[in-house]
Amino acid sequence: MEIVVFGAGSLGSLLGGLLAREHAVTLVGRDPHVATVAESGLRISNRIDAAVEPAATTDGTNLNAELAVVTVKAYDTDQAATALAAGSFDAALSLQNGLGNEATLANALDCEVLAGTATYGARLIEPGHAECTGVGEIVLGAPSGGASPQAERIAGAFRDADVETSASGSMPHRLWEKVAVNAGINPVTALARVPNGALAAPPARDIARRAAKETARTARAEGVDLSTDAALAALERVVETTAENRSSMLQDVAAGRRTEIDAVSEAVVERAEDHGIDAPTNELLAGVVRSWERERGLREP
Ligand code: PAF
Repeated sequence: MEIVVFGAGSLGSLLGGLLAREHAVTLVGRDPHVATVAESGLRISNRIDAAVEPAATTDGTNLNAELAVVTVKAYDTDQAATALAAGSFDAALSLQNGLGNEATLANALDCEVLAGTATYGARLIEPGHAECTGVGEIVLGAPSGGASPQAERIAGAFRDADVETSASGSMPHRLWEKVAVNAGINPVTALARVPNGALAAPPARDIARRAAKETARTARAEGVDLSTDAALAALERVVETTAENRSSMLQDVAAGRRTEIDAVSEAVVERAEDHGIDAPTNELLAGVVRSWERERGLREP
């Protein structure tokens, strides 16, 4: 299968590298990483060892492939969609954090857009070298749920490359459960500057649980069957299994970068408002992170 992976950060590079063991992959990302991959290939180490030679470019326009996998930060989805719209694809798959990415892609692209979740752990060590810190799985399917032959086909192609993948008919539930986990973990770890495991103890635990509960309530208002118990169980599981990890938002804040707060906590607040529901913990967390971004000049005043 011809695959474009748009976003050569840690997950994009790991997944693109794993898929390149079997498929014709083009990685779209930034220099110096992309220049190194184009020149000397991509090395994967730790839980999986591989040396592959995907094509690599900084120009994501005018590309044609059967599949575009989008792994950019949520605030870059618009830009990715515009670039991809100048090319041609049979399907696009969003493997991103937060709400609304699939809709942004579907508005711009003339192909089926699928949603996915990925639990592989990845880290970019240096240009041309990605580390696999955890072997997880990819689940993908139609964003509004139901069967998708395209999702089945892509899942099969990923499995051909030894990437643990399954197609699911209940992506809305999975996506909202993931948002509940991210709404609980990401802003709290970023603001408290603690690894995920610190959320096993109060008071951080209580704040994270309140954010996840509000997210589950909002999901139900959106017609998605996510119980509070299921959201809290997912939160607890991820806190435990990723205890040593620094969340993506903590990494962003520590590096002085913009975060995905708009697509996570702020998106929950907006969806809750649409249904006349309050989401005070998400509102507070979003407000503090957004103020930090503004103060840093990372977003418009
Ligand atoms: O964004 C992240 O860091 C991850 O999605 C998660 C699951 C919270 C683990 O760190």
